[in-house]
Amino acid sequence: MATNRIAHYQYGSLYVDGVDLMALSDEIGTPCYVYSQDRAVDNLRSLQKAFPDAEIHYSLKANANLALVRTLVDSGAGLDAVSAGEIYKGLQAGVDPNMIVFAGVGKTEAELKYALDVGVGWINVESGLELARLARLAGQLHKKPRVALRINPDVKADTHQYIATGHAAAKFGISLAEAGELLEKYADSDEVTVEGIHIHIGSQLGTVERTVEAVQTVLPLFDQHSSLRALNIGGGFPVSYTGDDVPEPAAFAAALEPIFANRRLHLMIEPGRYVVADAGLLIVEVQYIKPSPAGVIVVTDGGMTELIRPALYGATHDVMTLHDPASAEYTNSQVVGPVCESADVLRNDVTLPTLQPGDRLAVMDTGAYGAVMGSNYNARPRPPEVLVEGDTWRIVRRRETWEDLIALERNIT
Ligand SMILES: Cc1ncc(COP(=O)(O)O)c(C=O)c1O
Repeated sequence: MATNRIAHYQYGSLYVDGVDLMALSDEIGTPCYVYSQDRAVDNLRSLQKAFPDAEIHYSLKANANLALVRTLVDSGAGLDAVSAGEIYKGLQAGVDPNMIVFAGVGKTEAELKYALDVGVGWINVESGLELARLARLAGQLHKKPRVALRINPDVKADTHQYIATGHAAAKFGISLAEAGELLEKYADSDEVTVEGIHIHIGSQLGTVERTVEAVQTVLPLFDQHSSLRALNIGGGFPVSYTGDDVPEPAAFAAALEPIFANRRLHLMIEPGRYVVADAGLLIVEVQYIKPSPAGVIVVTDGGMTELIRPALYGATHDVMTLHDPASAEYTNSQVVGPVCESADVLRNDVTLPTLQPGDRLAVMDTGAYGAVMGSNYNARPRPPEVLVEGDTWRIVRRRETWEDLIALERNIT
């Protein structure tokens, strides 16, 4: 699907739903993140429609803002957590613990104990040693968790190498052969019930074929082990950052349907990016303009501390001006941040209306892997997060202060 932006120009200014971003940023300052509640819920609805029989666990790692997560939980989502901290945040957002899937390659003993204590619905195990540790802890705590084995199907996803997770050399998952052995070993366990298989071959998947291949790789396990009843195919549903065509969730569902047709499988998915990426944008303000061989360098007050994806993955985000650029002149621009790193770029090589200091920009589609990957590098307080509901908005995470920057170091000599 080509891009369907949350933002549009009205009365000379950029709006998200019914909210004027110029007025909003006049009031709370820049940088700031803005999320459209309606868009996030619509995206969840699209997934529910594409996979009507699947249990959907929104992946907290994409955006764990409590108010946003609460809305998704209220709209029927379970959660996918990859740390005890994410389980804690999920519970704070009001999710039923039974609707939490606990995944992650390096769960500590303390994290597993916490997951057992609160009674998460599923624990997705990534190694034989982890399963042994979990079984021991479950025995000690008199619990019997439901377990899915995360399989490494040795499938190379069509995506950036840093977000491909399903090839044999990746740190994630268990080989098919070892999974077979573990299923035998724990078949009559008193400590764990191994009932599911989990795969997640990567994020921002460019095609449906590799997912089909991964599912076909693990299906023989279901034929060989009647205890297995659930298949969790992970997340990875892509979004169109720059207007390019990407497969919709319905395309994944259609490709998988014939494979599942004669099987009684409980299907689960863990979407993150698809739910929240295009529901969010980051507002920054232009500070300086400098000439460069290719045009101009636009220095803003937001950078890799607010959005690390361009620096980390070479990701491309569209940029829009907050003022309507009708009849503007355009200049080839590189939009950068103030952080002392050459990688601190928000967007390379983009034709933008000729800008002045004080102009504001919206970096689009930053709802996923934006604020959650933010940092205080260069002692930069994190920006506020705003949730738009129709024509109203509210701050759902306040701007950090200089005092916040030193709060954890106070009274320590
Ligand atoms: C196990 C697992 N599930 C779900 C996700 C969410 O992926 P996405 O945001 O691409 O939907 C991830 C992220 O890479 C993941 O590692």
